[in-house]
Amino acid sequence: MKNVKGTKDILPDESPLWQRLESTFRTMPALFGYKEIRTPIFESTDLFKRGVGEGTDIVGKEMYSFSKSEDGESLTLRPELTASVARAVMQYNLIRHYPTLRLWYYGPCFRYEQPQQGRQRQFHQVGAECMGTTNPEADAEVIILANSILKNCDISDYKLNINSVGDTETRAVYKKVLVDFLNDNLSKLSEDAQKRLATNPLRTLDSKDARDREVVKNAPSILDYLNSESKEKFEQLQTLLTASGVSFEINSRLVRGLDYYSNTVFEFITDKLGSQDALGGGGRYDNLTALLGGNPIPGVGFALGVERLILLAQQNEQPAEAKAQVMIVSEQAFNGIVFNIANTLRAQGISIVTDLQQRSFKSQFKDADKSGVKSVIVIGENEAAQQAVTIKNMVSGAQHENVDYANIVTVLQEILNG
Ligand code: HAM
Repeated sequence: MKNVKGTKDILPDESPLWQRLESTFRTMPALFGYKEIRTPIFESTDLFKRGVGEGTDIVGKEMYSFSKSEDGESLTLRPELTASVARAVMQYNLIRHYPTLRLWYYGPCFRYEQPQQGRQRQFHQVGAECMGTTNPEADAEVIILANSILKNCDISDYKLNINSVGDTETRAVYKKVLVDFLNDNLSKLSEDAQKRLATNPLRTLDSKDARDREVVKNAPSILDYLNSESKEKFEQLQTLLTASGVSFEINSRLVRGLDYYSNTVFEFITDKLGSQDALGGGGRYDNLTALLGGNPIPGVGFALGVERLILLAQQNEQPAEAKAQVMIVSEQAFNGIVFNIANTLRAQGISIVTDLQQRSFKSQFKDADKSGVKSVIVIGENEAAQQAVTIKNMVSGAQHENVDYANIVTVLQEILNG
């Protein structure tokens, strides 16, 4: 049997790189005062329909939905986490305890898309949400956090694009202007864009179809329609990013594929991964909790696609092999002693492997040579009789004989630190 199309096994040789990135995912948000939230992998389908939006590709085509609940309610494997986080924030009234709520998350998401490099049906996101304020300081903070995570993963081949899609008032005015413009060019648009005209015309602005791109080159820019409040916020964001040394480009065609955004949207783009060029993206969603039926709680956040970060990080480094530091070579008769010593050393933080296959001394030593351990502990008949061990330094070849059980740690530490 094979793994399902669009999913990937992370094999033992690959996991050290994942672990290195994952440790950045934990440490960096903590430096910004963000706390981790873990929500369920499946939620009510309605959450994503209302949150992400019925007119989006995610809800229209890509959700893994099923009905396996007592009341026949439709459930969905989460395609993203922002809607889930907003649901949890409302459900537990988290904002009551923290007027500025800073949350981060990491985990698998599911979208039924055509798999290709950097695009899977099960993929992982790391992200953060800052809720409770409409101020552009929060927008700047989450962008700087995303940027710091990328930098700390040793990723540098990317650009930050930012835009403002304005508030509800701005978008209502701009939508009319855009629809008129697209209608004037209807026959030149892709079939998808023509269909979307009634449901989601803004999405045509960042369509990947060459025909749409050609048309929207001349489309009116949303930035010319921002009302004074949206305009001021967008300018303040730019000032803060510049003051923080984060370079960015304004891309007035950037709208992003989720309906909950207002004002700031942004994306981290690379030219190193072919057509799946977005390392991550995000934006402000001041109307999301209201869409979900609660009180309005403003928020802004981002998510990065971890598989894409891994692809880039792989281009930069050879993953380090996770190997044990020490091996015990012994005869089966002394396995009681072997297990005892191994457990004592592990409790001291020394990684150690033992032979599980009752092999000869010779083949155990061959294995030790091949595996690259720094030290070997030998327990043969002589050693067992003297209640001691022989310790070999595999780097220098030096040998310590007659080492009492109580002294093993000291000798090993000298070798391992040497
Ligand atoms: P998104 O742009 O849909 O935003 O996804 C964020 C990132 O997840 C993408 O830029 C990409 O790197 C990765 N990604 C998406 N789909 C796939 C896939 N099929 N395979 C591999 N990677 C993928 C969101 O999900 C928003 N919730 C971000 C956000 C947080 N906005 C506000 N707060």
